[in-house]
Amino acid sequence: MIETEMDFESRITAPEYTPEDNEIELSLRPKKLTDYIGQEKAKENLSIYIQAAKLRGESLDHVLLYGPPGLGKTTLAGIIANELGVNLRITSGPAIEKQGDLVAILSNLESGDVLFIDEIHRLNRTVEEILYPAMEDGKIDIIIGKGPSARSYQLSLPKFTLVGATTRAGQISAPLRDRFGVVLRLEMYTPEELAKIVKRSASILNIPLDDEGALQIAGRSRGTPRIANRLLKRSRDFAEVKYDGIITKEAAEEALASMEIDRLGLDSIDRRLLTAMIRNYNGGPVGLETIAAAIGEESITIEDVYEPYLMQIGFLARTPRGRTVTPAGYEHLGIPFNPLGNSGGTQITFE
Ligand code: ADE
Repeated sequence: MIETEMDFESRITAPEYTPEDNEIELSLRPKKLTDYIGQEKAKENLSIYIQAAKLRGESLDHVLLYGPPGLGKTTLAGIIANELGVNLRITSGPAIEKQGDLVAILSNLESGDVLFIDEIHRLNRTVEEILYPAMEDGKIDIIIGKGPSARSYQLSLPKFTLVGATTRAGQISAPLRDRFGVVLRLEMYTPEELAKIVKRSASILNIPLDDEGALQIAGRSRGTPRIANRLLKRSRDFAEVKYDGIITKEAAEEALASMEIDRLGLDSIDRRLLTAMIRNYNGGPVGLETIAAAIGEESITIEDVYEPYLMQIGFLARTPRGRTVTPAGYEHLGIPFNPLGNSGGTQITFE
């Protein structure tokens, strides 16, 4: 069976933001750097830059955050604004369609404000060109009128800090990238960090959760706090109905099993992807587009959403000739690794 986009939208392990995350993310988002768990390197650097900017009474240099989705880029932008004691304005690359949209946003900023642009790699070129002088000299050039009567004006902006976020650092144009003074890469979280995050979330939401329950959820959240918080909510449902309201190891295990999330956080789509590579292409190397066609997903989704975690846990490798399933990936699926012969794929069936 080929799964469709609808399956992707309802996939609980999708790291992308969904409207359902809104309510919990807002209440759970830490406001201070000291409450933010993990990302030690980024946190340490940011803390210094923020303190230095405050000491000098200047605005913070522009910050580019990059890394896989769901790791807390928006949260960090909020913390930066809060620590600096300024407003946070939030927008995204695809939301800014015309130059005028960006001019309106920029000219409404107050001195020192943080402007967060999510998915900044999706800004269109003409909009991006407004950003260059705005970031560099705090000015924008606008043209009013058309033809011979067109006039060019320069508008001075208040000092501001642009925080750009992207899952694809490679897609940001060089002139834009060069205008960020601070570039921070966010890493996937360890299970221990995720356990701390779900414990913190559970205490804010008044959900009884024991240490083993927390570790169960953490270990299956694909390194991503957004997924951990979602699984926490679903586990609460099981705990309330069947386990006296406490998320124990057993309650979490049953909740996760019901969502077909395995011991390492792989869901049915991850398993189908690996299985298709083994069954149809002898485990690779196989090109991204070919995999996408085989499992009926967009190649961009595979690249941004599935692959980062499968590579992180060492089940998938990118080689110049394409993607390959590693011996550890075979082992996890219970398929004998046999790189020379056929893949043993005859044993595998699609559900
Ligand atoms: N919620 C989401 N991400 C978090 C983080 N890094 N620290 C604490 N709480 C979080």
